[in-house]
Amino acid sequence: MTLRFNDLHPLLSGAGQKLYGGEAISQLEHALQAAHFAQLAGGDAAAITAALLHDIGHIICEQQDHDVAAGIDDQHEFVAVTALKDLFDQRVLFAIARHVEAKRYLCATEADYLAALSPASQMSLQLQGGVMNDEQAARFAASSYAKDAIFLRRCDDQAKVVGLVTAPLNYFLQIAKTICISKELA
Ligand SMILES: [Fe+2]
Repeated sequence: MTLRFNDLHPLLSGAGQKLYGGEAISQLEHALQAAHFAQLAGGDAAAITAALLHDIGHIICEQQDHDVAAGIDDQHEFVAVTALKDLFDQRVLFAIARHVEAKRYLCATEADYLAALSPASQMSLQLQGGVMNDEQAARFAASSYAKDAIFLRRCDDQAKVVGLVTAPLNYFLQIAKTICISKELA
């Protein structure tokens, strides 16, 4: 499934009202908060866009909480990249594609990172391949996408605050629009 830019708003505001797996906020709130923290941390339009859309694969898959409990990983990061490939360049796509690996990397390289993850995120870690070994971590750190993926991951981890007020969806979609590569918008 590939998306057009105009699909993003209905998808995030519609199906995005569902709870974000195992957390107390909706998918839409999680997306807005991730974009909010990306902007707060000085991220550029690509970083903010990646944060806003990083879990759109979850919405597309309509994964239910019990999928994780049943040991099923929906590979949502790759579903998102396929869906967004006509809309954004590789910087956005790679950050999204690798944000799960960034979590596995940070668990391997930062002493307190694993313990600070939410219970749902700790549970999904096992389905996603667990903590990276030294060789995997070194390869990840040397990759061209590591910096963007780690930045996204940190925004993702913060974006679980019940009741946090952020700018609305249209505000962040306007930022995304500035870097959309689709000719549809020309
Ligand atoms: Fe997320």
